[in-house]
Parts: sequence; C-alpha cells; structure tokens
Amino acid sequence: MRGHEGLLEEGSELLQENADADVLDAGIIAAAQSVEHYEIAGYGAARTWAEMLGENDAANMLEQTLKEEKEADETLTQIAESSVNARAEQGDGAQKQKQKTTMRGGTE
Ligand SMILES: [Fe+2]
Repeated sequence: MRGHEGLLEEGSELLQENADADVLDAGIIAAAQSVEHYEIAGYGAARTWAEMLGENDAANMLEQTLKEEKEADETLTQIAESSVNARAEQGDGAQKQKQKTTMRGGTE
C-alpha cells in the first residue's frame, strides 16, 4: 500500500517541525486519522467487492475490520476534541502572549 508510505512520511515531516508540543500532538492525531481514513476506504471497497462475489466469510471479516478502523478513527476524534485541540490552541496563545511580553520589554 503505497498511500500509507506517503501518509507516514507526512507524519514524519510533522515531527521535524519546531512547534509547541501540544500542537504537535494535534498534528499527530490528524496524521493518524489520515491513515485510518485511508484504511476505511480500502476495507470498505474490499468488503463490498467480497459481497458482490458472494464471498460471505471474507465480507464478514472485512466488515469487522472496517468497524475496528472506524472505532479507532472515532477514538482519535474524541481525544482531539476532548482535550488535545484545546491544549494546542492554548499553547499557541501562550506563545503569542510570551512574544507580546518580550516585545514590551518584559522578562521571561
Ligand atoms: Fe487503523
């Protein structure tokens, strides 16, 4: 699956960024969700094709895997929305506040 390689490389590049740790966490979650969405598309198509071919056992296994991928995606969404995204936003705000203080001649 070559698409995975591109997604993993994208996530790897993100880790090279000199960014706030909370912002990186939010980015890592988004990168992981990109992988989950890629998998969901693949397993969904494979499940449908298995159904069309009358391969019911394969279709059932692919359906189970598809469900697990969707659950992983939902878990990542919950983690991002319940805490990580808000911390990332605050981290950015704290950085801006620090810059303003420095510009006014404040101490760090
Ligand atoms: Fe997955």
